[in-house]
Amino acid sequence: MKELRISAPSDKQKLFLTANTKHIAFGGARGGGKSWAVRTKAKLLALRFGGIKILIVRSTYNEIINNHINQLTEELHGIARYNKSEKVFTFPNGSTINFGYCNNDKDLLQYQGAEYDVMFLDEATQLREMWIRKITACVRGVNNFPKRVYYTCNPGGESHRYIKRLFIDRKYEDGEKAEDYTFIQSLVTDNKALMRSQPDYIKQLEALPPKLREAWLHGNWDIFEGQFFEDFHDRPEHYKDRQYTHVIDPFEIPQGWPIYRSFDWGYKAPFSCGWWAVDYDGVVYRILELYGCTKTPNEGVKWHPPQVFEQIAKIEAEHRWLKGKKIIGIADPAIWDAETGDSIADVAAKHRVYFTPGDHKRIPGWMQMHYRFAFDDNGFPMMYIFKHCKAFIRTIPLLQFDEHKPEDLDTKGEDHVADEARYFLMSRPIAPPTVKAKNTFVENPLHQYLDMELRDFR
Ligand SMILES: Nc1ncnc2c1ncn2[C@@H]1O[C@H](COP(=O)(O)OP(=O)(O)O)[C@@H](O)[C@H]1O
Ligand SMILES: [Mg+2]
Repeated sequence: MKELRISAPSDKQKLFLTANTKHIAFGGARGGGKSWAVRTKAKLLALRFGGIKILIVRSTYNEIINNHINQLTEELHGIARYNKSEKVFTFPNGSTINFGYCNNDKDLLQYQGAEYDVMFLDEATQLREMWIRKITACVRGVNNFPKRVYYTCNPGGESHRYIKRLFIDRKYEDGEKAEDYTFIQSLVTDNKALMRSQPDYIKQLEALPPKLREAWLHGNWDIFEGQFFEDFHDRPEHYKDRQYTHVIDPFEIPQGWPIYRSFDWGYKAPFSCGWWAVDYDGVVYRILELYGCTKTPNEGVKWHPPQVFEQIAKIEAEHRWLKGKKIIGIADPAIWDAETGDSIADVAAKHRVYFTPGDHKRIPGWMQMHYRFAFDDNGFPMMYIFKHCKAFIRTIPLLQFDEHKPEDLDTKGEDHVADEARYFLMSRPIAPPTVKAKNTFVENPLHQYLDMELRDFR
């Protein structure tokens, strides 16, 4: 049999590999060498305890393939055999490393009646608390093998609160014993291997807006509250030269720039329609918008679907930036739902207002907003808002983090502009910026006393 070769663990990975309580959590930030530690511990256990049954879980099957099965196939070549249909590596000593995933309640069926000695929940915070409880109930069996559950985690995600209670706050309920739980923090800066091989990775984390940066770079679990888009800079008094602001004076849109229309229908509240132009560098400009109440009028305005699309069609026929242009429409996929009669999309089509369904994945959509708001080294963002787009400028700063779903915003807020902007941005996603966002002037308490250009005291 071939010999197993393993590179040297980091100091934090060493603590993980030698920890010996029943529940062990590792990481608490991005890029801390978590998945490597999981694979390494699984291999060592399999070789040391012949016959042991090990399970590695991620939220989806694709993730388990990309983060573990592909790597282990290479690392265990000549050491253990992989059976693809059973998703299991079998070692000559009878040990097995099995794989599972859980993305919805139905996936729990995989675990019915199963028994494992040691389990790894990689990115455990992406799994719901109920799934974690049901899956970890499979750690049992009458043998002398150690019984362990390893969790790797990041702040944010479905079970943020559960993992934080057990491993960060250490508040225990009946049946849980404090001495069974260990947490080992590992930050990207603890992962020298990654710092060497991908020096840009830390720059990506540094370019995140402050709260996400605190969470994923510094491993802070307390930050998902308050204003959601703290990276939106709407200070009209400072937009003279388009630097360090997102709100600008309108200008004439060059003929060659493509135009998009994004739309969110408010079933109980306002609808929102935004028009966007895209320049040759891929920078997007919100140039016009139409925003109004559909059911509960608060400003004396009450719109019915035909009126909304009549108005949209009229604006597109008459406004000099839109007239005669091919406009690409992107909307909330829910507008195609029709319980009875016409869907909202049908009504739109009757007015020759056409849409394709947007990608409505929420967290990736919000990340696109953050990436676009980030300023480059010269202070230029990838998204601007014309200053007459009042609904965007008013509602985006009001949105709050959701108390129960970290990383997401509270949908009780007025979120229709944000939703519609997100569908549009997901149609032309950009890579995370890697430069440090130069926004310190906003946090500088001195600036309120100074009547000068902001860039003078960055
Ligand atoms: N001890 C180590 N030796 C060599 N490479 C490592 C080590 N720890 C982590 N790495 C590498 O660093 C990168 C990030 O590690 P990974 O475990 O994927 O981080 P995380 O799961 O925390 O995001 C991967 O390419 C991984 O193979
Ligand atoms: Mg990982």
